[in-house]
Amino acid sequence: MPGHVLIIGATGMLRDASMTLASQGYVVGVLGRDPSRLETMMMEASAAGGILYPLEIDYYDEEGLSEAVDGAAQRFGPIDILVAWMRDDAGDSLHRLIDDICDAGRPWKLFHVKGSAAAAPDGDRRNPDLSQAKELCQYREVLLGFQIENGTSRWLADDEICAGVVTAIEEDSPKVVGTVEPWDSRPSS
Ligand SMILES: NC(=O)c1ccc[n+]([C@@H]2O[C@H](COP(=O)([O-])OP(=O)(O)OC[C@H]3O[C@@H](n4cnc5c(N)ncnc54)[C@H](OP(=O)(O)O)[C@@H]3O)[C@@H](O)[C@H]2O)c1
Repeated sequence: MPGHVLIIGATGMLRDASMTLASQGYVVGVLGRDPSRLETMMMEASAAGGILYPLEIDYYDEEGLSEAVDGAAQRFGPIDILVAWMRDDAGDSLHRLIDDICDAGRPWKLFHVKGSAAAAPDGDRRNPDLSQAKELCQYREVLLGFQIENGTSRWLADDEICAGVVTAIEEDSPKVVGTVEPWDSRPSS
């Protein structure tokens, strides 16, 4: 059932996923730093009859992030889904977002998109600390892998990544997009 979804990484590889969700009736917030890319997406979604609004913010700016997310919730209602494609060193910002969204006091879902490096035998596959989330945050890991075709491997294309993220939301489940096994078969570059 459509609701309010906030997407980080929406102007990059998750662009098509954002537009798909807007076309499915979600109110889609897209967070990024580049105003022109945000504006273009908003106009495209609007022309297709969808609601997509921009949040121009650097996610390392934790105070600004809180203000932007609180403002979005006041304007469009509580956030039901957060799709987070963030750098590993932005963990504090992700925790801040989790706390802010939990402040609404209702259940919501976090689709945490991770690069394939998280699947390496010595990779960092830690999930965010949800101990303060009071069971409100339902966590779904979306792990990006690679594709093996005709005996060779390649990295995922953006359309495959977007389809995987949309499917994870539709199925409301964690997902490995492509494969991460055997790990030794991953592309070399
Ligand atoms: N396993 C795999 O196959 C795999 C895994 C990972 C990535 N990839 C590929 O690698 C490519 C590059 O990935 P990428 O993450 O470098 O690029 P990307 O997804 O194309 O762009 C990063 C996204 O995050 C936003 N962003 C970055 N830093 C931000 C910040 N500080 N504050 C707010 N928003 C921020 C960017 O918007 P702004 O720049 O406007 O802020 C943009 O929307 C992808 O296109 C994908 O195909 C593949």
